[in-house]
Amino acid sequence: MTPHPTDDRTDSNHDPAQDPATATRELTDDFDPRAPETFTSAHELYREMRAHCPVAHSEGFDGGFWALFRHSDVNRVLRDVDTFTTSVQNTVPKFAFTGRRPPLHLDPPEHTAYRRVINRFFTPTKMRALHPTVRELAVEQLTPLIEAGAGDISVDYAQKFPALVFAEFFNLPRELSTRIKEISAAYVAAIIAVDDETVKQLSGKLYAIAQDVIDQRRAEPMDPEADLTTALTQATYEGEPLPPDMVLGCVRQLLVTGMVAPSVFIGNMFVHLSRDPELQTTLRENPDRIPAAVEEFLRLYGPYRGMARTAREDVVFNGRLIKAGEPIALVYTSANRDERVFPDGESFVFDRPNLSEHISFGAGVHSCPGAPLARMMLTTTLEEALARTDDFAVTGEIVMAKWAEWGTNSVPMRFVPAGGGARGA
Ligand code: HEM
Repeated sequence: MTPHPTDDRTDSNHDPAQDPATATRELTDDFDPRAPETFTSAHELYREMRAHCPVAHSEGFDGGFWALFRHSDVNRVLRDVDTFTTSVQNTVPKFAFTGRRPPLHLDPPEHTAYRRVINRFFTPTKMRALHPTVRELAVEQLTPLIEAGAGDISVDYAQKFPALVFAEFFNLPRELSTRIKEISAAYVAAIIAVDDETVKQLSGKLYAIAQDVIDQRRAEPMDPEADLTTALTQATYEGEPLPPDMVLGCVRQLLVTGMVAPSVFIGNMFVHLSRDPELQTTLRENPDRIPAAVEEFLRLYGPYRGMARTAREDVVFNGRLIKAGEPIALVYTSANRDERVFPDGESFVFDRPNLSEHISFGAGVHSCPGAPLARMMLTTTLEEALARTDDFAVTGEIVMAKWAEWGTNSVPMRFVPAGGGARGA
């Protein structure tokens, strides 16, 4: 990172930092999104960026992009849908266009039609009904690792469990959901590698699967209150059915979004608890504290940093001019530790008074509809893992995901099953 002339500690919502007439316009290499990372290195860099270069530019990913590191700036973009659109590109790096996929690729009011249908599937009643199955799946997937005393919590659990939960949530056969997960993982890897040909090919496979699911539901509809695909095929907006290509895009998007984030997130909680055995013991002895811990983990380890928007007009952030049409990455991973909003933001703190301001699930119209299911999956995982062990710890090299995700791809661990083995054995 090179210090930038506009370095200061002012809040970027204050003038004159927002005055286009005085805004600066250098396109520098402020940071490298592809620098190799450890479990802590990105957050160390982002602390520096928040302090000294909160509105950064990178020449990376073909054509460059802007990145916002402070909570107030990310929040400003999320709340202003008139100025910042998701329809041009919703990630940095931009990937090959294979179709518009609601809800993420649409702005209001078009976006609203899809969210109305989707939101109905994440109500407390729906979540209560799904909970026992989610718990069974967590136990089923954790037990072999714990009984063996060792395993990779990312590879052997976090990359499998979300697909099985999604199968239940979306009424898909397990094998199909697992196949979708494998294709999605390769698809995300191709986006990260900016490999457009592979992106197109894998996106095509996901579209074909989405179309099959829709065809089946049109041929044999399920209860539209119990099946999201059926609900989308039967939904109307302002008296008209939703267009078939948009229903296809929506199902295609849901297939991927539901599985990606939990896969890189779950391992982070286990790394944290391995490094903080006192907290591990506290949660084992007080399982009622696990939901609060999960919420703080969500703040600390937000898995997205390359979700993007495009400004429809020139905008100024902290004295730097971003022109209409230029991509802007929202670094949620940094915003959630912004010390201006979360005092001692790098540390785990129980029951922060303003924890609800974390934006791991985004904010505004595109905020994650799947948050209740995600929270249930994460909480249930920790409840079962802690109840079934006396101790666990990381034993090998942690492999990190790459921008645009943040989180773990591999976490080798040992587990001491409950009631057996000494701590540290
Ligand atoms: C730890 C787990 C998860 C995290 C951290 C997460 C995070 C997010 C974030 C940050 C966004 C907003 C993206 C943006 O601002 O551009 C989002 C959107 C979305 N998420 Fe999640 N998500 C998770 C799990 C899920 C699950 C389990 C589902 C569905 C089963 C899901 C479905 C969606 C959908 C459909 C959108 C698009 C919403 C819209 O555009 O209106 N997510 N998620």
